[in-house]
Amino acid sequence: MKPKICVVGSANIDQVSYVKRAPNDGETLFGEDYQMGFGGKGANQAVMAGLLGAEVYVIACLGSDVYREMTIENFKNNNVITDYIQTVEGSSGVAPIWVDESGQNRIVVIPGANNLLDSSLAIESLEKIGKPDVLVGQFEIPMNVNEQVFSYAYKNGVQTVLNPAPANKPTDVLLENTSWFIPNEVEFEEIYGEVFNEDNLLLFANDLKTNVVVTLGEKGCAYIKNNSVEIMNTDTVKAVDTTGAGDAFVGAFSFGVASKLEIEECLKLALHKATDSVTKKGTQSSYKN
Ligand code: RIB
Repeated sequence: MKPKICVVGSANIDQVSYVKRAPNDGETLFGEDYQMGFGGKGANQAVMAGLLGAEVYVIACLGSDVYREMTIENFKNNNVITDYIQTVEGSSGVAPIWVDESGQNRIVVIPGANNLLDSSLAIESLEKIGKPDVLVGQFEIPMNVNEQVFSYAYKNGVQTVLNPAPANKPTDVLLENTSWFIPNEVEFEEIYGEVFNEDNLLLFANDLKTNVVVTLGEKGCAYIKNNSVEIMNTDTVKAVDTTGAGDAFVGAFSFGVASKLEIEECLKLALHKATDSVTKKGTQSSYKN
């Protein structure tokens, strides 16, 4: 049986400009290249899990624009079930992105329809989908929608994975209904109020009483085993475009958890997929071989 995963979250159209460096105030620069593609943290995580072979459902909200059909088609092409996508009048989410020559990105998200995801409809969808092995969420939809969906799923015995990106403080209700909390270093610092280091991770995780994994970019990731912090390294590669690497990690990790792999195996898979993705241009397009 395939592992069953439900992702509730955002879908965006990524408009990526490849530039040597980001322009300064009042400056106009010529870029090197441009790509339009499919993105949104929720969509990216769903697509990664779909590519790995899970039965993936996405609960997202699209606008009544030209991007809607393209996005649905793209989900289908990547093994993601689209029966529970909501539609509202107006624009779908879009994300202008600048990627510099070191592969680092700067992203602006204009949420559009993502902000109008309806929580009652989302819970009705979850009832119809039946119990997934894992529910995944991020912070590009309203916090109260995540709260309600996570509470419903967690109380029904579903393992929940929360990626607090873009950085925002999760509410207590949301945290109480989270099995795996996966920030990156920057998000860790913004949420906890202290810089990421091993001592702070232990303190943070003890307070939370949930499993915590912190992604560390090219340094790999940190997790807790037998009450001490372990660092898992990743391969060194030349980064071309880091956009969506965190989502590749979360999608692949969720696949591992849903497949009942050991934690180390989940993390190895997640690091491998995230690291591979930075060697290619594009967001979801970088998840493919
Ligand atoms: O994490 C990368 C994603 O952030 C992009 O796909 C963009 O759409 C924003 O959601």
